This record gives sequence, structure tokens and C-alpha cells, in this order.
Amino acid sequence: MKVTGRSSGLKGRINVPGDKSISHRAVMLGAIAEGTTRISGFLNGADCISTIGCFRRMGADIEYDGGTDVKVHGVGLHGLKAPDGILDCGNSGTTTRIISGLLAGQSFTSELTGDDSIRRRPMKRIITPLRQMGADIISVKGNDCAPLRIAPGKLHGISYDSPVASAQVKSSILMAALYAAGETTVTEPALSRDHTEIMLSAMGADIIRSGLSVTLRPGRTLYAQDIEVPGDISSAAYFIGAGLIVPDSELIIENVGINPARAGIIKVFRDMGADISLINERILTGERVADLAVRSSKLHGTVISGDIIPTLIDEIPLIAVVAALAEGTTVIKDAAELKVKESDRIALVTDNLKAMGAGIEALEDGFIINPDGALRPLHGARIHDALDHRIAMSFTVAGLTASGETQIEHPECVSVSYPGFFDDIYRLMGI
Ligand code: S3P
Repeated sequence: MKVTGRSSGLKGRINVPGDKSISHRAVMLGAIAEGTTRISGFLNGADCISTIGCFRRMGADIEYDGGTDVKVHGVGLHGLKAPDGILDCGNSGTTTRIISGLLAGQSFTSELTGDDSIRRRPMKRIITPLRQMGADIISVKGNDCAPLRIAPGKLHGISYDSPVASAQVKSSILMAALYAAGETTVTEPALSRDHTEIMLSAMGADIIRSGLSVTLRPGRTLYAQDIEVPGDISSAAYFIGAGLIVPDSELIIENVGINPARAGIIKVFRDMGADISLINERILTGERVADLAVRSSKLHGTVISGDIIPTLIDEIPLIAVVAALAEGTTVIKDAAELKVKESDRIALVTDNLKAMGAGIEALEDGFIINPDGALRPLHGARIHDALDHRIAMSFTVAGLTASGETQIEHPECVSVSYPGFFDDIYRLMGI
């Protein structure tokens, strides 16, 4: 895929695909609820399709024909069956980690794995707390990565201080907590996305939140819900970024989830001088939603660190691209988690931005962008994406402002979270 620099702006309205995190959870919790969960706006991307595949293998009847409406006929908390083979989580860390907690509470043995990237990602972060709860979970190769084998265990509640602000870890523990004797509390170092808590509460779970802690008491039946999934702010991010940095752009991105635990990108871009307005703010199935109006803006550098990091973690590759085109220096710190995402995003963002002529230094936990304060125009380059969807999309946006051609190595990897990405971006450019 070749991207060429644009002098004319992006214009028009766009609806981005449904939120990936919420789509996963709607299928997972719908499958163990009583009754039928009707999901609209489901993300029809490879990651969420992996989640559907796993639950179908465990006997859940899920009506899904490749569209955005899904019906999950719940089997109740104890209705899942032993899968007829290994559960394939594809590229999805969310699927792997969250369903591990659920599997720890089942009366059958299961094994789960995924693609090369998944088999390199750290699973100790869930193995440790799940074992503390009494789970019988092992890394089959003994390297703390998938494949994982999970046998029936007698679970009990724990109080867990998580060393990482990770919604996947928190949600994995909460899933196991549904099957444990006694209550479970998870405390995080900073608030990570809370879609699991919102949905569990709407479905009738006994769940209480207090600051950075969440406590679940087991024993309640979960009841099916109608779930309208908002547009994914992590997908909207590419259009926000493109709208800001491609001159003469004016975009409305409709129906975007702006849950405060996800919307750090809006705050950061506004701090950098971005013209972004929220229109028509509303609540959709317990989640805050708005339309975003974005105009090309003259941006300046900033410092991004601390508690805001979990609220924009998936957007950092795109934020780094935008920061390279802002006046002055941007520092991103406290984001060591980037090294263990679908790829090592610190290394890939640094190498690819350097290849395009930007000034960037990698840190152990982030980057310094334009270290000498000077903004350098980008030029086209061949982008090494390591099959990471967010790298491919972030550098497509970079390519829109670069001179010459930018070549994305594996454009097809965007299908993990945004299958129609290139069609949407070309439409807004009037191509
Ligand atoms: C997700 C949580 C985040 C995020 C991922 C989706 C989720 O991961 O990066 O894309 O749906 O819970 P961590 O929990 O590892 O931070």
C-alpha cells in the first residue's frame, strides 16, 4: 500500500467502527448471561471475531453473519462446555487474557493460543493473580506466554494490588471472581478502562468501585442486555490526527465513545493547541458518547506522563506522529507497556519516524520527539509495521503529510481493528 502526501484537507463526516474493547466484552459477558444479548455496532474486526470463535467452541449460540448486529444466546454462568479443540485467540491479547480468567472458573480443561505476536506477549501478569485465586493455569512451554492450559480449580476471592494499570488484567481477575468463593478486590496503580465494570454492573453483578479499587462479590445471575457499541476512540484517533495535521481539514467523527478512561487523546491534543469540539454528548448503554468536530490546527509540543497514560495507551503511536509535526519538543514517559503490545511500539515508532526524517529519541518508557525543538518535515519511507494494525494506521496518517511516497508493509493487518480503514480515509480525501 502506497500513501502519498496531500495538500488538500480531509473533509466530511465519518462513523468509525464499534469499540473493540466493548465488543469483546459484550460477547464474553453475553455468553455467560441468562437470555439473549443483542449487540448493535459490533466491531467486525478480526480480534472480536476471534472472541466469537472461542465462545462458539464452548457451546454458546452466537448469531453473527459478518455484520455489526450480533445476537448472543447466553448459556448462564455454568453453561459453557469443554471446547472441542484449542481456543484460537488470533492476534487478540484482550481475548487471551480476559477469557483465561473465565476459563479458570470452569469445570473443564481448556487450552488457548494465538498468532506469533500473541505467543510472545507476557501472560505472567494474569497467571500470577489467577494462581493466587486457586486457578490451575500453566504456560505450556514454561515461558509465561501462550499457549496456556487451564484446568478446573477451586477459586477463592483475593485482594490484588496490580503492578500494572491494565484493563485486561483487571477484567481477567473479575471474570474469575464471578466463580470464586468470597469477594475479590483489584486495585490498580492508575485507572485503566472500565468497560467490564460498567457492563457487569448493568447485567446485575454485585460490583462496587471505590477510587482505584473494584470489588466483586459472586453469586448473582447475569442478565442479558441490549448493547449499543459506540464508535471506537482508538479508531477515531487516526481521523482526529489526520484532521489536525493535514492542512485545510474539517471533519465530524460521529458517535465516538468518550469514556474518561479512554479519552486522554482529546485532552492531550487540546493541550497541544488542537481545535476539537464535542457535540451532542450523551450516554449509550452506560458509556459516554459524543460527535467530535476536528479542524486543522497549529500544534505545539507537550509532556505526556503519569495517570493519563492508560487512557491513551493505544493512541500513542498516532500521538507520536502528530507530535513530530508539532512545534517544539514532546516528551512521552511512563509508557513502558508499549513494548509489550502487538509489537514493541517504542522501537517501531522510533525507527519509522526516523526513517521519515523526524527527530525522535527512544526512552525506556517512551520517547522524546523533536528533542532540539525543531520540527522537521516528513518524507516518504518504507514503513516496517511488524503486522501491528496501530503502527500501519498511524504511519498511513504520517504519509498523508509527507513528501513523496510512504509504503505500508502489511496494510492488510488493519483488519484486526478497522477493516475499512483505507476506504474511509480515501473517501474523506475525496479520492
Ligand atoms: C484493552 C486493554 C489495553 C489495550 C488493549 C485493549 C482491553 O491493554 O491496550 O488494546 O480491551 O481491555 P492492557 O490491559 O494490556 O493495558
